[in-house]
Amino acid sequence: MEREMSSLTVLGCMWGDEAKAKVVDFLGASADVVVRFQGGANAGHTIVSEGKKYVFHSVPSGMLYPTTRCVIAQGTVIDPFGLREEMQGLMAQGIDFSGRLFIDSRAGLVLPLHKELDSSKEEQLGKNRIGTTGKGIGPAYADQSARCGLRMGDLAHPDWLRKRLLSLYDLHGQNPDAAALDKELAALASAWEFLRGYVTEVDILLREWYLQGDSILFEGAQGTLLDVGFGTYPFVTSSHTMCGGVSTGAGFPPRWLDKVIGVYKAYGTRVGEGPFPTEIFDVTAERIRVVGNEFGTTTGRPRRIGWFDAVAAKYTADLNGLDGLAITLLDVLSGIPELKICTGYWQGDTRLPHYPSHHLDLESTQPEYLTLPGWEADIGAVNKLGKLPKAAREYLEAIQDLLERPIELVSVGKERSQTIVIN
Ligand code: IMP
Repeated sequence: MEREMSSLTVLGCMWGDEAKAKVVDFLGASADVVVRFQGGANAGHTIVSEGKKYVFHSVPSGMLYPTTRCVIAQGTVIDPFGLREEMQGLMAQGIDFSGRLFIDSRAGLVLPLHKELDSSKEEQLGKNRIGTTGKGIGPAYADQSARCGLRMGDLAHPDWLRKRLLSLYDLHGQNPDAAALDKELAALASAWEFLRGYVTEVDILLREWYLQGDSILFEGAQGTLLDVGFGTYPFVTSSHTMCGGVSTGAGFPPRWLDKVIGVYKAYGTRVGEGPFPTEIFDVTAERIRVVGNEFGTTTGRPRRIGWFDAVAAKYTADLNGLDGLAITLLDVLSGIPELKICTGYWQGDTRLPHYPSHHLDLESTQPEYLTLPGWEADIGAVNKLGKLPKAAREYLEAIQDLLERPIELVSVGKERSQTIVIN
C-alpha cells in the first residue's frame, strides 16, 4: 500500500538545550530520514541508548538507527575537521555511515580563521560579549552572507579553493605566508578525501524522498529565542532556528512541512549572555542544575536556570505555528515543593501585551508568576500520563493551557523508554 507523504519538524523553542535530541531520537524510530538544516558544531546532543552515551555536534542524531538516512543540509555551517573527527568517533562506537549520510555541497565551511575571529570578537566585546560557543559560527555565517565564504563543494576544486581562501584572508586583513596556506590547503584536501563520498545535492534527494512517501524528520538545533531574526538579538546565534529555516536551509518547500512539534524543557535554562527574565539564583536553581545536569554539552559551561516562561514560550509557539508540544526533563522538578510559571511581564505599572522585541525592554521586565504545588515522587518509570502525580499533571495542563497547544510527548528521563506519549 502506498504510504502518505509526511514530514515532521522538531524545534527547540527556547534558548536551546531543550533535550531535542532525546525527542528526535524517540520520534526518529519511525523516520526514514533525519535532517539538520541550520547551525553547526555549536550544537551538542547527548543521547543515551541502551546505557551507551553518544555525543553529536553536526551529525544528525538519527544516525543511531541503523537504516535511517541522515542529511546535513545547505543551511548548516560545517567545520570539515570537526565533522571528520565526530564521524570517526561515532564509527569507532560501531555506527555505519556508508550510504546513510548526505552532506549538501552548498553547506558553508567553518575554517580555523572563523574560530579565531569568533574568540577575538568576543574578547573585543568585553562585558557586552554574546557568550558564543567559540565554534566560529557567527563569522562563518557572516562570510556566507557577505558572499566571500567557502562552501563544501569548493573543496572539490583546488585552484578555486586556493583563490577563495586567499581572498577570504585578505578581506579579513590577514596575509598568511605561502607555507601556512599550503598547510591549510593540504589539511582541507585530506578532510575532503574523507568527506567527499558523502557530499551531494541533498535538496533534490529530500524532495524525491518526500514525494515517494518517505517520512522526513527535520531536527532543529539551538532554539527559537536564539533565532538571528526573532530571537533575543544580539544575544542569538547566527542562523534561522525557527520553522522557516527548514525550508530555506534544506531546500524543502514550506507547504510540505506537515507537522511542527516544539520542544520545551519543564523549566528554563540559558547558556551565554542575554536577557532571561525568569532566571533564579537560589538553592532551587542549584538543585535543578545538578539534578538536570545543566552543563553545556559543547562547552561544559554551567547553564543559567529559571522558571518556565510561558510568555516567551507562547511567542515561539505562535512564531513556529506549532501543532504540538514535547515537554522534557519533567523528572528534574520532582521534590521541589513549589513551582512557578511566568504568565505575564510587567514594566512598571504596565502589563506588556506581548513578548518585547528589544532585549533592553526584556531586561527591565518583572515576571508575573502562577505558583503551583510540586510533587515528591520519582517519576522516571512512569509511562502513562494518568500515572503521574496529580501536581505533575496540573503543571503540564497549565503549560498546555497557556501555550494553547496539546502536549504530545513528555520525557521523564534520558533513556528512550522514559517517554510518555500522549498522542
Ligand atoms: P554561537 O552559536 O556559538 O555563535 O553562540 C551564540 C549564542 O547561542 C550563545 O549564547 C550560545 O551560548 C548560544 N548557543 C549556541 N548553540 C547553542 C546550543 O546548541 N544550545 C544552547 N545555546 C547555544
